[in-house]
Amino acid sequence: MQDDFYRIKRLPPYVIAEVNAMRAAARARGDDIIDLGMGNPDLPPPPHVIAKLAEVAAKPDAHGYSASKGIAGLRRAQSAYYDRRFGVDLDPETEVVVTLGSKEGLANLAQAITAPGDVVLAPNPSYPIHTFGFIIAGATIRSVPTTPDEKYFEALERAVRFTVPRPSVLVMGYPSNPTAEVADLAFYERVVAFAKKHNIWVLSDLAYSEIYFDGVPTPSILQVPGAKDVAIEFTSMSKTYSMAGWRIGFAVGNKT
Ligand SMILES: Cc1ncc(COP(=O)(O)O)c(C=O)c1O
Repeated sequence: MQDDFYRIKRLPPYVIAEVNAMRAAARARGDDIIDLGMGNPDLPPPPHVIAKLAEVAAKPDAHGYSASKGIAGLRRAQSAYYDRRFGVDLDPETEVVVTLGSKEGLANLAQAITAPGDVVLAPNPSYPIHTFGFIIAGATIRSVPTTPDEKYFEALERAVRFTVPRPSVLVMGYPSNPTAEVADLAFYERVVAFAKKHNIWVLSDLAYSEIYFDGVPTPSILQVPGAKDVAIEFTSMSKTYSMAGWRIGFAVGNKT
């Protein structure tokens, strides 16, 4: 019987699981450990969210299968959020999908758009799924820096000149995990121009959209005019509403 499965062979060690195991071993030894591993919320979800969950859970007819792209009210709410927060217009019917968290959204999109041997540009260091989703899907990763500066664009230019086949996807995430770097709109404008010039899809992970300091909110790549032609952006209820275990996120942008 064949047990040499293509995707499982490509599955890299999951750093968070390894850190959890190290933590458990240290605690078992009696060491006093502060866990800075998984990005778990340290606050509860807002009371109105809990109240709504309790109300809906009590309804006998609320437990059927959902729509695969997410219920209409939730997609409309996400579209309204992008309008309010970023001034970005999204059609809730065709440009918003509810995902089982942004991690699963990214991984599922990676499966959908990657052929074995495709080259994907991803930051190093990165949040694991930015590379793992594509590695499992059969891609080769070419690393680019996380720093949203000149060095970054030089690395992108080198990547398109010297990589065969040409890169098909560029993954990025600001505010960055693990570096905490942030990007401004001018950076995203250059990214969109680069992606259009070289026919590259851009996947932007905006999981930390609502975590910022000094009163300056993070922009969305979709604020760049025409970004929707090349970009998809992921957001999450996990961080914003401390709902990490609920598994609700969104993919928005290009409808293809
Ligand atoms: C950059 C980044 N993206 C996505 C996620 C996961 O979000 P979700 O719970 O929506 O899958 C995390 C969680 O730590 C993260 O740091």
